[in-house]
Amino acid sequence: MISCLKQHRLLAGLLTISSVLAGCSSDQTTRESQSELEASTLIEVSGEKTQMATAPTLTGWTTETSIGTIVAERPETARVLELVGIDYCCGGQKPLIEAAKSQNVDSNQLLNALLVVGAPPTTDQHADWNKASLPDLMEHIVTAHHGWLRRELPPLLETTNTVLRVHGDSHSELADVAATLKKINDALLPHLDEEETTVFPALHKLVAGEPPADIAKQLESLRSDHDKLGTELHRLRELTDGFKVPDDACAKYREMLTGLSALERDMLQHVHLENNILLPRAQSLLADHESRP
Ligand SMILES: [Fe+2]
Ligand SMILES: [Fe+2]
Repeated sequence: MISCLKQHRLLAGLLTISSVLAGCSSDQTTRESQSELEASTLIEVSGEKTQMATAPTLTGWTTETSIGTIVAERPETARVLELVGIDYCCGGQKPLIEAAKSQNVDSNQLLNALLVVGAPPTTDQHADWNKASLPDLMEHIVTAHHGWLRRELPPLLETTNTVLRVHGDSHSELADVAATLKKINDALLPHLDEEETTVFPALHKLVAGEPPADIAKQLESLRSDHDKLGTELHRLRELTDGFKVPDDACAKYREMLTGLSALERDMLQHVHLENNILLPRAQSLLADHESRP
């Protein structure tokens, strides 16, 4: 008999995962993963319905695939297994169907959750944000990128601190990795708040033809923050030798490196949209406004 509590935890996790994907879907999902996600099915769990992907062909995973293989190939799936209490380190040899049974969860449903999380890495190349309106671009930045950072940074910090505790003695660079990530987190979250509460509302006023007096200074301040964040992100890449997995890395270590790499990828796309599209267009609009008699 399936445990209702675990099914609900799995469902809650799936909804979180779906929202992550939805946040990225407008521009970050590759054509391959989009077509995989379009081949979706509705599954009813405890009287509720949620949309989940059918098996992507790229992974080749089935319910007979071992848990260890799945986490080794896509470390981010570890979070789904943790959600339902499956031990993927010591129990890594177990096939998925057996591990699911031991935790009273449906193996096909669990496989679908793993496939959604293990979808191929995303890119940010499908929407032409140069042609979008500034309000649409700002909405996209807040929904896709700020949303992603607020969801992903806290668990990534936790994972990094765990890896530091366990592997810090044999990997001295991990103390700097954890400290750098904390520095990024502490600078980034107020930066997101500043954009959402001050700068983006000022840009909405600019679009409406009524820019606040200090808007030019605000825009320059954003660029300066981005430069500082870029330096710290580069430091993370250096410290981890380009997010290279060491020979003695466990699944948690791999999960941390995947998370750090995903952070870099998201920030590159995010800051590109702000530095190369949003700010120049805003500055041009401001120049037009100021040149009017
Ligand atoms: Fe931003
Ligand atoms: Fe920013």
